[in-house]
Amino acid sequence: MSNSIVQQLNPSQRRAVQTVDGPVLIIAGPGSGKTMVITHRIAYLVGTIQISPFQILAVTFTNKAANEMRDRLVNLIRGKAHNVTVKTFHAFCSSVLRQHGKHIGLGSDYTIFDSEDQRDALKMAMEEVEVDPKRYPIRGIQSAISRAKSTMLDVHIFKTKGQSFYDEIVGRVYGSYERILSANNGVDFDDLLLKTFIVFKSQPSVLEQYQKRFFHVMVDEFQDTNIVQYQLAKILSGSSRNLCVVGDPDQAI
Ligand SMILES: Nc1ncnc2c1ncn2[C@@H]1O[C@H](COP(=O)(O)OP(=O)(O)O)[C@@H](O)[C@H]1O
Ligand SMILES: [Mg+2]
Repeated sequence: MSNSIVQQLNPSQRRAVQTVDGPVLIIAGPGSGKTMVITHRIAYLVGTIQISPFQILAVTFTNKAANEMRDRLVNLIRGKAHNVTVKTFHAFCSSVLRQHGKHIGLGSDYTIFDSEDQRDALKMAMEEVEVDPKRYPIRGIQSAISRAKSTMLDVHIFKTKGQSFYDEIVGRVYGSYERILSANNGVDFDDLLLKTFIVFKSQPSVLEQYQKRFFHVMVDEFQDTNIVQYQLAKILSGSSRNLCVVGDPDQAI
């Protein structure tokens, strides 16, 4: 079975699948078999190298991609596929925070604010700091805050870095918005990533637990990672250095 796993691959795919120690970066065009490399690499790790499927984490961007990857894995390694952790960044982080969010003051029963909840909270926040949504549309502020969080600027850093008048407006709303989230034991989608990173940074024992558990980390569609996602992948694989990422070349990596 292990032979047939690499037999169907072309030479460079085979090399990527069989390189199992240390970091691997694969850049290749759409439809060239990058996801195939990830699934076959997992099958090779489990079937040939005898790595436990529990020790493998594969991260995708959408639930659809995660389900597709799991289906492809089931075809390759059957029942063992269910013991591989295949998750979106957000789902992975959400489970980390359920267990360890308490270290940063987040109750395990925290609520995830979706975009609409987010806009409701922003409306309240803007009222509180007297920013007129007719002058400063909520969606614009929503994306500015999202951009800040995905580049790891919490409200304090954002306030010191902001330069324009608009940044100052956003900073005010951002502060009030964060208070509303925290009063409701809530997080938004960007917080899932950022707060998980903060837990890992501030709780070495929690990080170590995940680093030990996931000896191999793989990221599909790596060109889509934002800064915090990249930092998460890096920190998770920080002790094993077994990080394999695949992505399209047409976008900056
Ligand atoms: N060496 C190969 N042999 C057979 N089929 C391949 C090979 N490489 C890629 N494919 C097929 O090409 C299609 C695209 O592969 P996929 O892994 O989804 O590409 P990507 O992730 O790069 O967009 C899939 O149907 C896959 O099975
Ligand atoms: Mg793909």
